[in-house]
Amino acid sequence: MRILYCGDIVGRSGREAVLTYLPKLKAELSLDFIIANGENSAHGFGITKTICQELFTAGVDVITSGNHIWDQREIMSYINQEKRLLRPINYPATAPGKGFVIATSKSGKQVLVINAMARLFMDPLDDPFSAVDNVLKQYPLKTAVTATVLDFHGEASSEKMTMGHFCDGRASLVVGSHSHVPTGDAQILPGGTAYQTDAGMCGDYNSVIGMEKSAPLHRFTKKTPGERLTPATGPGTFCGTFVEVSEAGLAIQVSAVIRGPRLRNVLPE
Ligand SMILES: [Fe+2]
Ligand SMILES: [Fe+2]
Repeated sequence: MRILYCGDIVGRSGREAVLTYLPKLKAELSLDFIIANGENSAHGFGITKTICQELFTAGVDVITSGNHIWDQREIMSYINQEKRLLRPINYPATAPGKGFVIATSKSGKQVLVINAMARLFMDPLDDPFSAVDNVLKQYPLKTAVTATVLDFHGEASSEKMTMGHFCDGRASLVVGSHSHVPTGDAQILPGGTAYQTDAGMCGDYNSVIGMEKSAPLHRFTKKTPGERLTPATGPGTFCGTFVEVSEAGLAIQVSAVIRGPRLRNVLPE
């Protein structure tokens, strides 16, 4: 089965990049299942019910998130009604929503999607490794589900790579999010799990991680409060990760997917 993961969608430019490139990618890559990280889709901060519905209509099957999940307050109640929207699994159990879901693909296959958050240079949540381990043991590949994708939302490449190896042989794809920069290390690990440290963002790359440059320039150079962060509004570039999964639930091929005006475009062979 063929799965596409779309990196953090940042603001309108990111949403437009997804809406522009996803229909072509769906056809060209014969996609059976689509995941998108929506944590920055509402003007850079969080996601709304309307944006979730827009993404589902565009063909997204499951929406993942990260540290920005609670930025729009309406999501606190919506996430309890919409099981296709995930928050990181290692938030306290009292947080609304869930950190994993088993969803049905376009061809009727069961896909387990897990969302977890790293801890280095991030909010110190519960241990993501034991949280992911529990779900992987509960729903093993081949017997319980056809494919498993983990979106590991974090800053440090070391922690993300460790998670990749921790899940090797037990997940179809471990893909990183949050840095908003695509890494060039997409590979199949020795046990058969596809891995990429970060898929990058869907957004305007003439920016600082999707945000208008002026505010970060002020913050970093003057170290005094400046203007608010707002998303850059130029043409968006689509960044994601494509994986083809075998009957055993392991990766046959993996590739970064980059489409758009600023970065060198990359498509699976
Ligand atoms: Fe993000
Ligand atoms: Fe994030």
